[in-house]
Amino acid sequence: MMKKLALFILWASGILFVHAQLPQKGMWKDTDGNFINAHAAGIMKYKNTYYWYGENKGGFTSQDPTSHIERVIMGGVNCYSSKDLLTWKFEGVVLPPEPNDRNSDLHPSKVIERPKVIYNKKTKQFVMWVHAESADYSKACAGVAVSKTPTGPFKYLGSFRPNGGMSRDQTLFVDDDGTAYQICSSEENQTLHINRLTPDYLKCDGTYKRALIGMSREAPAVFKYKGKYYLLSSGCTGWAPNKADIAVADSIMGEWTMLGNPCVSENGDKTYMGQSTFVLPLKDRFIALFDEWHPRNLSDSRYFWLPIEIDKKTDRMTIPWREVWEGIKP
Ligand code: GAL
Repeated sequence: MMKKLALFILWASGILFVHAQLPQKGMWKDTDGNFINAHAAGIMKYKNTYYWYGENKGGFTSQDPTSHIERVIMGGVNCYSSKDLLTWKFEGVVLPPEPNDRNSDLHPSKVIERPKVIYNKKTKQFVMWVHAESADYSKACAGVAVSKTPTGPFKYLGSFRPNGGMSRDQTLFVDDDGTAYQICSSEENQTLHINRLTPDYLKCDGTYKRALIGMSREAPAVFKYKGKYYLLSSGCTGWAPNKADIAVADSIMGEWTMLGNPCVSENGDKTYMGQSTFVLPLKDRFIALFDEWHPRNLSDSRYFWLPIEIDKKTDRMTIPWREVWEGIKP
C-alpha cells in the first residue's frame, strides 16, 4: 500500500520532478551529459515523442560591423527528442550549415533563427520554417526546409519574403482544420503579418493579414484555447529583455487585441529577463517557453519554461514566475 501511494505521488507530480532536475535558467543537459543547444525553440509532438528544434549557437560571440548585432557563427538547427519533456536525447544537427557555398542561406556567415517544425498529414512531410538572415539583418526572409522524418536531415528549399513582406522573428501555427499559418515580424518589425500557407505548407497562398499594426511585436508564439486564438510576444529591443504581451482574437486573421503583460511576478516587466519563443499545448494546459539571451556570450544563453495560468471564471491568462511547478503532465 505504501509503495503504491509513493508511486502515485511520483506520477502525479511528474512535472515537479522535471523542474527539480531542470532548474530554470540552469545549464540543461541532454542524455549524453552535454548542454542542450537549441535556442529560440519550437516543439513538435509526433507519435508520443516531443521534438525540440532550436538554433545551434556555439563558439565565440562577435558583433556584426554594420548592424552591431551580436552573433555567433551560424551552426544550423539542432534537434532533441523526449517522451517526458524531462530527458532530452540529442538527435543531431537536422538542418546543417553549408560551409562550401558562400551564397547559401546556410553558409556559417549567415543567420538562421527561430526554427519551427510542423507535420503535414497530406504530404507526410515535416516542414521547417526559419528566419533566414544576412549577417547585417537586411535580408528579412523566411526559409523553408523539408524532411520525411522528424530528425532530418532537412532539405533546404530556399528563402523568400512571404507575400512580398519582410519576415524576421517568426512562428508557425496549425489550426484544427489543418490549415497552417506563418506569423512573422514584418515592415521593419513594426507590424506582424499572418500569412496563410498552401496545403503543402511550403509557400504562402496569397491570403495574409497585418496584425498589431505599428506595435513593434517580436518573438510571436500562437496557441488556441476554447476556440479563441492567443498570441504571446515580446517587444522589439534585440537581445535585451522587454515587456511581454498576450493578444487575443476570435479568428487567426484578427482583429487582435492586446491584453497586457501576463508576467505578473517580480521582474515581469522584463519577462523575467527572457523572451518568448513558443507555447506548448498539453491537453488544455499550456507551457510558455522563453530564452534568456546572453549577448556577450550567446552560446551561454539559457532557457526557462513556465505554465500559463488561466483563471477559470474569466479565462484571464497570467505567467507568474515559478522555480518549480506541478500539475501538468506530458
Ligand atoms: C531579437 C530577436 C532575436 C534575434 C535578435 C538579434 O529581437 O527576437 O531572434 O533576431 O533580435 O538582435
